[in-house]
Amino acid sequence: MPPTIRQEQPKDIQAVYQINKQAFEQEAEANLVDALRHSDTFIPELSLVAELDNQLVGHILFTKIKIVNGDSAIESLALAPMAVSADFQKQGIGGQLIREGLKRAEELGFGSVIVLGHEHYYPKFGFEPASKWEIKAPFEVPDEVFMALELIPNALEDVNGTVQYPKEFNEV
Ligand SMILES: CC(C)(COP(=O)(O)OP(=O)(O)OC[C@H]1O[C@@H](n2cnc3c(N)ncnc32)[C@H](O)[C@@H]1OP(=O)(O)O)[C@@H](O)C(=O)NCCC(=O)NCCS
Repeated sequence: MPPTIRQEQPKDIQAVYQINKQAFEQEAEANLVDALRHSDTFIPELSLVAELDNQLVGHILFTKIKIVNGDSAIESLALAPMAVSADFQKQGIGGQLIREGLKRAEELGFGSVIVLGHEHYYPKFGFEPASKWEIKAPFEVPDEVFMALELIPNALEDVNGTVQYPKEFNEV
């Protein structure tokens, strides 16, 4: 049975911490999620959990970022982090979290999403190298792992610049 994908509730916070800690085998991403919840870049509607038989098995977060070019900046979203509990990986739950997150982000009116991740995984959901739009990461990263997706057609057409992540990411 597919999991239910729903918005995270306050009662889920501890389970979300454990999912991130277990999936990443360290606490940095779990702590990042906790820190981002207190940031003005946090969008409650885009912190989603996957629930199976009353158990949380996955989490995905999209936060506000800026793509900055000189004095101008446009708002976008970062998909990060996402995690599925080890026992439930490779069953499509990550994909369901991504698809539902992208759908909700589009409904909220966001134009684009940026992700730093596996070059064979995210293209399945429509992500392409961000270099296509001359969008750069704020750090050295191989071209193919830094990707972008337009939620609104041509949202990135005249956009180029460097992604500015919330400061909480600097501590990871
Ligand atoms: C990355 C992560 C969230 C993916 O979650 P997931 O639920 O395993 O994702 P999916 O099941 O959608 O897809 C994973 C793979 O399984 C495959 N898959 C999907 N459904 C499957 C199924 N029913 N049976 C077998 N394989 C399946 C997918 O094709 C995909 O293959 P790929 O790696 O070759 O692209 C999870 O592996 C994880 O938590 N990793 C540790 C944390 C991490 O690295 N997070 C990402 C960086 S922020």
